Amino acid sequence: MPDGAEPMSDGRLIVVSNRLPKGDVPSGGLVFAVHEMLSQTGGLWIGAADPTKTAEDGLTQIGKGVYDRATFALSEDEHRHYYLGYSNSMLWPLFHHRADLLSFDQDDFDGYARVNARVARAIAEVAAPGDTIWIQDYHFLMVAKYLRELGVRNRIGLFLHIPCPNVSDLMALPQGADLPGWLAAHDLVGLQTQRDVSAVSDLLRLDRAIERLPNGGWIRKGHRFAVLSFPIGIDAQGFADTAASAPELPLRMPRDAPLILGVDRLDYSKGLVQRFDGFDTYLARRDAGGPRPTFLQIAPGSREDVAAYQEIRDQLERRAGAINGAHADLDWTPLRYVRRNIDRAILAGLYRRADVALVTPLADGMNLVAKEFVAAQDDEDPGVLILSHFAGAAEQLRAALLVNPFDTSALAEAIDRAIHMPLAERLERHAALRPMVFDQDITWWRDNFLRHLRGHAGFDRAMARF
Ligand code: ADP
Ligand code: G6P
Repeated sequence: MPDGAEPMSDGRLIVVSNRLPKGDVPSGGLVFAVHEMLSQTGGLWIGAADPTKTAEDGLTQIGKGVYDRATFALSEDEHRHYYLGYSNSMLWPLFHHRADLLSFDQDDFDGYARVNARVARAIAEVAAPGDTIWIQDYHFLMVAKYLRELGVRNRIGLFLHIPCPNVSDLMALPQGADLPGWLAAHDLVGLQTQRDVSAVSDLLRLDRAIERLPNGGWIRKGHRFAVLSFPIGIDAQGFADTAASAPELPLRMPRDAPLILGVDRLDYSKGLVQRFDGFDTYLARRDAGGPRPTFLQIAPGSREDVAAYQEIRDQLERRAGAINGAHADLDWTPLRYVRRNIDRAILAGLYRRADVALVTPLADGMNLVAKEFVAAQDDEDPGVLILSHFAGAAEQLRAALLVNPFDTSALAEAIDRAIHMPLAERLERHAALRPMVFDQDITWWRDNFLRHLRGHAGFDRAMARF
């Protein structure tokens, strides 16, 4: 048991995710969340090693500490098919409702299945009978199925960090008919929102071997499982403290000029082009004598070996140039587009300095940036969160300025409204948002999921509450 970790009565927690934290690489929400969680519980975190020429079975221990870390090997070929291919050119676009971006390749699926089988064998070797296995995200949808085939009886949970496809999305997936069976191999499937739970319930009904139980759970070939929503949170207090004690910001702009902030991985699901269009329309309509805001968009490159990501990067660069070309002046650059990873303390300080956050994805599992922004605010002079209806966070953060990111004019209007919002309204909205972020934080998420997975209160009884 590591120092400072909470006791675990149910054996060790084994978490598997494709990505492990690594130096400067933009990590995304999953890595931050799992790191914060395992720092509290201890356990073992398994993730992918850098690709090599050939790959062997087993795990390589890469770190021991509050939690242990180990990697599974991946050949370059597998990396191409499992990660760039099936995970990020099939499942990611499909689950984000972008069937137009799918790349169909049987080798991609074969590579995905092979890597999932290898990960299952590696877990089966290290898992003791009482251990809890918690699989993260879309890279490992088949691991539980392979674990069961290997005879592993442990509790197995899956948390999907991304949105769920609906029945018509699934028709575009060649393995669509098998997906319900892969999900059914877990004991608990955790999703971000109630909307996702409805979507997955519809998918499960497509499999005739799956039946709904009177208590709201599901059963397939005698194996019971549950599908519930557990909206992921952040370490809100920790982030608030970091924001309040942030170092001086290296921002060159007038102190009283409004700062609008966007922070996203450079991904087509984040609605960045639509966001730039909305800002462009706002600038075209703004009152010439009014405040001169700076919109700072931080968007580090992501998955750059996938064509759709190269396209969105080129598109954004063109839009950024055109917007400044049309609206900049000698003493004013309205749009600043930074494609780098930013130190977390500086990032927290930027959130706190920002008057407006633009979080406008076209589809997003949760979006932790929205929660980080709320946590970082000065409670006496809070900024305004503009949030897309299509972010999972919108189910909890109803008091944000909710927008449809496809509606350029509405986006421009929301920016104008946020910049001019009176203090009383900002305080009222912030007071409603704050408890959602601080009470339903990362610890709440972890405890809630593990309590249901381990069935402390009796799995059936716990499920019946939903
Ligand atoms: P996703 O998981 O799809 O990337 P989220 O909004 O849920 O989206 O999580 C993104 C995480 O990555 C947040 O914790 C955010 O603070 C962090 N992040 C995003 N961009 C940067 C950046 N340029 N520098 C540092 N951290 C970043
Ligand atoms: C999202 C996904 C994660 C992923 C992250 C970064 O948060 O849900 O599974 O790790 O994006 O993407 P990457 O492909 O760089 O790991």
